[in-house]
Amino acid sequence: MAIAKKIRKAVFPVAGLGTRFLPATKAVPKEMLTVVDKPVIQYVVDEAIEAGIEHFVFVTGRGKGIIEDYFDIQFELEATLRERGKTAELKILDGILPAAGTASFTRQQAPLGLGHAVWCARDIVGDEPFAVLLPDMIMRGEQGCLAGMVELYAKSGGNVIAVEECDPELTHKYGIVGVGEKVGNGFKVTEMVEKPAKGTAPSNLYINGRYILQPEIFDILETQERGAGNEIQLTDAMLTLAKRQDFAAFPFAGKTYDTGAKDGFILANLAFALERADIRPMVEAQIKELVGKL
Ligand code: G1P
Repeated sequence: MAIAKKIRKAVFPVAGLGTRFLPATKAVPKEMLTVVDKPVIQYVVDEAIEAGIEHFVFVTGRGKGIIEDYFDIQFELEATLRERGKTAELKILDGILPAAGTASFTRQQAPLGLGHAVWCARDIVGDEPFAVLLPDMIMRGEQGCLAGMVELYAKSGGNVIAVEECDPELTHKYGIVGVGEKVGNGFKVTEMVEKPAKGTAPSNLYINGRYILQPEIFDILETQERGAGNEIQLTDAMLTLAKRQDFAAFPFAGKTYDTGAKDGFILANLAFALERADIRPMVEAQIKELVGKL
């Protein structure tokens, strides 16, 4: 098998309206809501960095300019911190800044769906395989999900999607895969169904929001008809691509939180706070007390 081309670029579709999180998202993009002390988008970018990504492509929309500001130098703030000798705070800011020229921003002008958002990145990605990370989904695990996928991809080539077990009662909310023979630390995908009707899902393994895709997906997306929810769906385009190319699944061993939903957002805050040595002692006992009282 030909050596798989390195995954250098990652696409972050951040144009979503965040309607599940109103009124908070009326003026603040959902990707900028904080989990403990970092915006949601930072967790996802950190996961991409861990996986060796070199170029970060954000597909934004109206009202999302603050995301671009977040990944830029904040001159006045930094000058003030320097003046006051706040080196620890300066270091935090420095650590999140992408190197010059490694972040690109393009706009999805109309909310036509995830497939359309990914297609908007076609010129910036060009003719090479790339990753897609859905920024609502943030993950906890020993190894980052995308880093694990990159390892599988080095063996499988083709396209790789990350999957995770879900409650069989909830399969209708996600893209679900069928399980084929083993490949590397994953398996071949036999089928993909977007939001299957109850009782028809091929497994309880859902697509958790991380993809490695070959650039041929862009040609398919170009003419992709609207699907579920009257939107251009990425899964529909992947189904066409799967007729021509291999798809492998990477079973992620950690846990994904859907921060676009209220329960997922709150659980992510609790889980990441309890993981922090500087915060856990302050909140653990009080959480127990609250749970006991309620
Ligand atoms: C999208 C994908 C779906 C995937 C899900 C993960 O759905 O289409 O396959 O399982 O993300 O969150 P959406 O959440 O946009 O309905």
